[in-house]
Amino acid sequence: MGVTGKRTAILISGRGSNMRALVEAARAADFPAEIVLVISNRPAAAGLEFARAAGIATLVIDHKVYADRAAFDRALDAGLRQARVDLVCLAGFMRLLTPWFVERWLDRVINIHPSLLPAFPGLDTHRRALEAGVKLAGCTVHYLRAGTDDGPIIAQAAVPVLPGDTENTLAARILAAEHKLYPLALRLAASGATARPGAGALFNPAP
Ligand code: GRF
Repeated sequence: MGVTGKRTAILISGRGSNMRALVEAARAADFPAEIVLVISNRPAAAGLEFARAAGIATLVIDHKVYADRAAFDRALDAGLRQARVDLVCLAGFMRLLTPWFVERWLDRVINIHPSLLPAFPGLDTHRRALEAGVKLAGCTVHYLRAGTDDGPIIAQAAVPVLPGDTENTLAARILAAEHKLYPLALRLAASGATARPGAGALFNPAP
């Protein structure tokens, strides 16, 4: 594991397959990030089991017990600071973060979204892509900004939309690309290759 790398937390809400891809990539000796913490806003998130079994510290910050988004985000901020986290990866984390949090962690939070942003931000991404008839779909890793799925792009991967695709088949093809793209994007962010976010397209890996 990259034990001398940037101390990185992964935030999840569910299955956690992207988290798993990041954890596995970070085991490489030369990886510039160390996964020190997995946080879930849902106590029953399946991904927590994998993280625990992998020996990674986990934290549940259940959004339902906080009065509002601001209180939840303060708890999240405290949890990250207590673990001396440098970088945060959102991986299927289904909560909008407040401008206060985004500003406090500016250029230290990255997110993955299953579309070629700026197309199809938000929910129901795959259905909307199919309805629009796009011939290429894909995924994007970007720095977090206050808008939904908005912010400087670190890396993208494209996959074809095939005849007969359903939301499920398209989602599965994109998810396989996500699992390659996210480790690569974290490597870029943690190694300082993206020190000037927004300076332009950085990488375009083959899916
Ligand atoms: C992924 O498609 C991710 O891009 C989106 O939600 C899904 C999460 O999947 N934001 P997983 O929890 O990483 O398996």
